Amino acid sequence: MNPQIIHIKSVAAEGMGALSFFEAERDLPFAIKRIYYIYGAPKGVQRGGHAHKALRQLLWCPYGSILIRLDDGKEKTEVLLDDPTKGLIVEHFMWREMIWQQENSVLCVAADSYYDAADYIRDYDTFLQTVAGRNEL
Ligand code: TYD
Repeated sequence: MNPQIIHIKSVAAEGMGALSFFEAERDLPFAIKRIYYIYGAPKGVQRGGHAHKALRQLLWCPYGSILIRLDDGKEKTEVLLDDPTKGLIVEHFMWREMIWQQENSVLCVAADSYYDAADYIRDYDTFLQTVAGRNEL
């Protein structure tokens, strides 16, 4: 499985840091309806542990280092988000786990839909059965 990495464009200002940006539907393959972020997590914390039926997302880490584990039901891969210019597209039916490699790392997410608890698959066996059923179609 090839993770979908995007390079987030950046403008560096000498001695003044850098500014990074992306535009929905231009730099991303979808329009954005929701942005959320996770912060204040200690090193070693693991979050996620679910997949989505429809949701598509861009994940990026503007500060710190977070390991993203992806599993499409057949293959697994890992992406280390340790650079503010690195973005990871996570499509639907992708089991994900996020592991904090550094205290206070920030995980930002741009999503193509509003929050919907019914869109989550939180049980791994149910996830495997669901993707196996989809692959039979
Ligand atoms: P969840 O997606 O389970 O995050 P994680 O997998 O990182 O633990 O969400 C955690 C809680 O936040 C859960 O109670 C649902 C709530 N939540 C919202 O209310 N709106 C949102 O947009 C998101 C992403 C979560």
